[in-house]
Amino acid sequence: MIKIGIVGTGDRGTSFVKAAEHIPQIKIEAVVDTNPVRMEAVIKHHNYPPVKKFYNLDDLLDAKIVDVVFITTPDWTHADLITKTLEKGYHVFCDKPLAINSEQISKILQAAASNNKNMHFMGFNMRYKPTFIKMKELTEKKEIGNILTGWSYSGYTGDGYFRRWHKFRKNSGGLIIHKGCHILDILNWMVDSYPVEVYAKGGQKVFGGEKKWTGCHQCKETETCLYARKLSEDQMKLLEDIYIKAAAVDGYTRNYCVFGPSDVPDHYLVTIDYASGAKVIFEEIFFGAGLFYMGFAGEKGEIVTGSFIPDSIIVRKKFSQDKEQRYQVNKETKEFHGGADIGMLKDLVRSLETGKQILPGFKEGARSAIIGVAAMISIDRQKPVKIEDLLPLELLQ
Ligand SMILES: NC(=O)c1ccc[n+]([C@@H]2O[C@H](COP(=O)([O-])OP(=O)(O)OC[C@H]3O[C@@H](n4cnc5c(N)ncnc54)[C@H](O)[C@@H]3O)[C@@H](O)[C@H]2O)c1
Repeated sequence: MIKIGIVGTGDRGTSFVKAAEHIPQIKIEAVVDTNPVRMEAVIKHHNYPPVKKFYNLDDLLDAKIVDVVFITTPDWTHADLITKTLEKGYHVFCDKPLAINSEQISKILQAAASNNKNMHFMGFNMRYKPTFIKMKELTEKKEIGNILTGWSYSGYTGDGYFRRWHKFRKNSGGLIIHKGCHILDILNWMVDSYPVEVYAKGGQKVFGGEKKWTGCHQCKETETCLYARKLSEDQMKLLEDIYIKAAAVDGYTRNYCVFGPSDVPDHYLVTIDYASGAKVIFEEIFFGAGLFYMGFAGEKGEIVTGSFIPDSIIVRKKFSQDKEQRYQVNKETKEFHGGADIGMLKDLVRSLETGKQILPGFKEGARSAIIGVAAMISIDRQKPVKIEDLLPLELLQ
């Protein structure tokens, strides 16, 4: 039985507690949260199984009762928690992103390099999306030849990110690190290389502003505001129990006005140069309506997937009789991030049982996070940024 300690009993920590109920080889042995009021309310509301409770990571590590530590705390805390966990000799799973700046990323990679006994894993659940799995299989088989260029667009309905801690750079590094790291990992995975230069533009077009009030639920403009979030009685009770009461401990605020102060871009357009020579264009907006597409071009053809061809991939070949081929994949399930969280936990078990790195590790986490870090710097300076100016490239190889 693999015993897990979950650090951070928020949304993500709770989704792993629930997913673990479907994996017989795993037991959630303990949970840690620095906010005891929120932790108790979450445990009660989400009906956690019996667990040992801790209020800081050090006490969990000293208790020596778990095999793997899951880091599901806000992004700015990851680097310290990961390095402590590795130093104390535990396997560690970190949910994305790895970290929010180049110093933190270097620190984590160095800690991982000086510890070859313990395994480390990244929570990149998008790798379990059936379309991406098929696309990886086809690009790996060189159906379009070597990837020369690529492009990806996500139009998120992302006002939720402007209601919580993510809207401040000191917490998330910017949404290109916090959220972008998912698709950046997929791009890196498909291109099968690491970034060497990034040039980005971005800013705020819709969210952010000067509105002062902190709670959307308390606002007088609820009837007219397009982004008003009307909470049901149950949702309001949840907000009160888990967040408003617990805020007395740490000031954690939820349900901010999306037009209040924020220093993270709500859109960005990025070009990435890879060591392989491939060039990729990456765009994400947070005021979108859910459109998505991703594609690549190689010497022999093009490959594309997107929301306009659901659960499908199209390959177009230049030098073949079958000019266009469409591949259909299974639909994603609704629960557990399209089933991905269950898949990740199963692969974690297989990795620990075999000693083989099946899930992506911190190198992959670093390759994706550093693009976001470089993009934020590039937006600020309005210049391309070389990755080697942020950290030694050997760390990404
Ligand atoms: N892979 C995914 O699809 C996915 C989805 C959601 C969130 N996440 C990631 O999970 C992480 C957590 O996000 P969330 O939405 O669950 O956040 P959250 O705000 O809902 O919960 C975070 C919890 O961590 C606790 N915490 C803060 N600092 C701590 C510390 N030093 N030690 C112990 N507990 C601490 C807070 O009190 C809070 O209860 C983030 O890094 C986020 O990017 C990943």
